[in-house]
Amino acid sequence: MPTGENLNHAFAGESQASRRYLAFARQAARDGLANVARLFRAAAEAETVHALLELKTAGGIGATAANLETAIAGEAYEFEQMYPKFIAEAAAEKNQPAVEAFRWAMSVERGHHRLYSEALAAVKAGKDVAVDRLFVCDQCGNTVTAPEDICPVCGATRMHYIEVK
Ligand SMILES: [Fe+2]
Ligand SMILES: [Fe+2]
Repeated sequence: MPTGENLNHAFAGESQASRRYLAFARQAARDGLANVARLFRAAAEAETVHALLELKTAGGIGATAANLETAIAGEAYEFEQMYPKFIAEAAAEKNQPAVEAFRWAMSVERGHHRLYSEALAAVKAGKDVAVDRLFVCDQCGNTVTAPEDICPVCGATRMHYIEVK
């Protein structure tokens, strides 16, 4: 029965579409087309609704401790296996922008792995994690509890750190 696989496939497609439309919305805004930008943002929201429904229907959402374990495994795979291989391949092809994009992502996934691991330890002890402020660099995605003057991953200034509410 293909429905389980189809749900996973649809979740992947809708997830990608939502991010692609967000990027297209920013481009439309840069092009001075505010209404086209809004259309892309609206469709991105709708694709997110679809993605979340398909993930839920596929049984992909568990209790928070299990979800943290899933997240930890995903981040570990990315920074231990996927990105090192991608970086080596991009370097062999002399594709410097790809090397940099992968390097930034790899550094940040390592940080996510640490934050998630701390959260899992807290949840297993029956409490919420004691991290109540988080900031994300809008250039590289670095995720920290207190921004430094210069982003240690990409070199952006502190104003590039956006607090997540
Ligand atoms: Fe991550
Ligand atoms: Fe950064």
